[in-house]
Amino acid sequence: MIQSAFRVLYFGYAMNTLLITGGAGFIGSNFVRYLLSVEPGVRIVNLDALTYAGNLANLTDLPAPDRHVFIRGNVCDDSLVRRLLREYDIDTIVHFAAETHVDRSIYGPSQFIQTNIVGTFTLLEAVKQFWVDEKAFSLADVRFHHISTDEVYGSLGPEDPPFSETTPYAPNSPYAASKASSDHLVRAYGHTYGLPVSISNCSNNYGPHQYPEKLIPLVILNALGGQLLPIYGDGKQIRDWLFVEDHCEAIWKVLAAGIPGETYNIGGSTQPSNIEIVEIVCSILDERFPDSAYVPHKSLIRSVVDRPGHDRRYAIDHTKISRELGWRPRESLDSGLQKTVDWYLANTEWVATILDDPSLEAWIDKHYSRDRDIQ
Ligand code: NAD
Ligand code: TYD
Repeated sequence: MIQSAFRVLYFGYAMNTLLITGGAGFIGSNFVRYLLSVEPGVRIVNLDALTYAGNLANLTDLPAPDRHVFIRGNVCDDSLVRRLLREYDIDTIVHFAAETHVDRSIYGPSQFIQTNIVGTFTLLEAVKQFWVDEKAFSLADVRFHHISTDEVYGSLGPEDPPFSETTPYAPNSPYAASKASSDHLVRAYGHTYGLPVSISNCSNNYGPHQYPEKLIPLVILNALGGQLLPIYGDGKQIRDWLFVEDHCEAIWKVLAAGIPGETYNIGGSTQPSNIEIVEIVCSILDERFPDSAYVPHKSLIRSVVDRPGHDRRYAIDHTKISRELGWRPRESLDSGLQKTVDWYLANTEWVATILDDPSLEAWIDKHYSRDRDIQ
């Protein structure tokens, strides 16, 4: 059971007990750890369905486990969500829970529609009833913060300016379209019902605890095992890479000092091509294991069939959050990647747990063996 705590006051907004959804996933679990360490007063209720991407191994070694309670459950479960709001007197929601992998959304969009759109709608309805209709709190003392992605803005041409908060939405994948829909719902609940909402749209995260279906952990673990490193198409697609702890600090600043109704873009100010980032990871592994039979690790790189509808370039303009909330990324690409590689090398038990899960093997078999030149 979590213990009661004193209130944390920010410019009139009192953050006491948070419902964090998706807090057993990559970014959510990093955020739970971060918030428990920077905020000695808050309590966290962590609601996560533990899909293939969620893992309780992400929540070991929390700095203050007595202020965290884990509930296994689905954000689409209306009665559970309503019960948790009342039982724990939730005044703050940070909504991470989602289906997040673009490639999976291309094979099977339905779960993305369910979790990302219906799940967000379910939370908004429950919170509206509790905070607005029943007036459980003053609206000055509550916040619904929605975690979104830069992918809602679509793809940039080589000369286009980076995405800002006013860039029109143009999502290209089923994943991005489902996130865009959820952003619109959140904004509409703020506009129509006066719910104090905020949204952050961030770029590609990397760092500890990321499930190895995503590019960077996939490359680290494949290279360590001497397996091929799949690059879609020509590998010249560009992403804006953000170290996950920098993202956590940005979310915390939005909660603490962001203005309800506003959107904040969060990016890492570093935009290598996919092939460049894979080569950097390979060179870090060459340094760590100079005697490995796989040196140079970049010899494992192979071009494979491209992703359908693959967005060419993302870049984030984070001027607004820097100017208004004083946030900027602390990690360079090099320092962030060194920390990430070292985390995967040090956490062999976590890696073994994930690699032993048959669902990862099933995904690799399905996705990389069909019409591709790697097995
Ligand atoms: P993740 O896939 O690692 O984790 C998602 C978590 O949500 C898992 O723990 C999973 O069990 C949980 N979940 C899924 N469906 C659920 C449901 N119906 N009910 C309750 N829990 C459920 O994702 P992540 O990379 O940590 O992303 C978190 C959020 O950040 C998502 O909203 C995502 O769209 C957004 N985002 C991620 C990135 C990135 O690079 N990873 C970039 C931009 C935005
Ligand atoms: P990913 O980590 O899946 O994130 P997102 O699709 O949300 O940007 O992919 C990052 C980039 O790496 C993207 O351009 C697709 C590419 N990629 C590969 O080239 N090979 C792979 O095996 C994977 C998983 C991704």
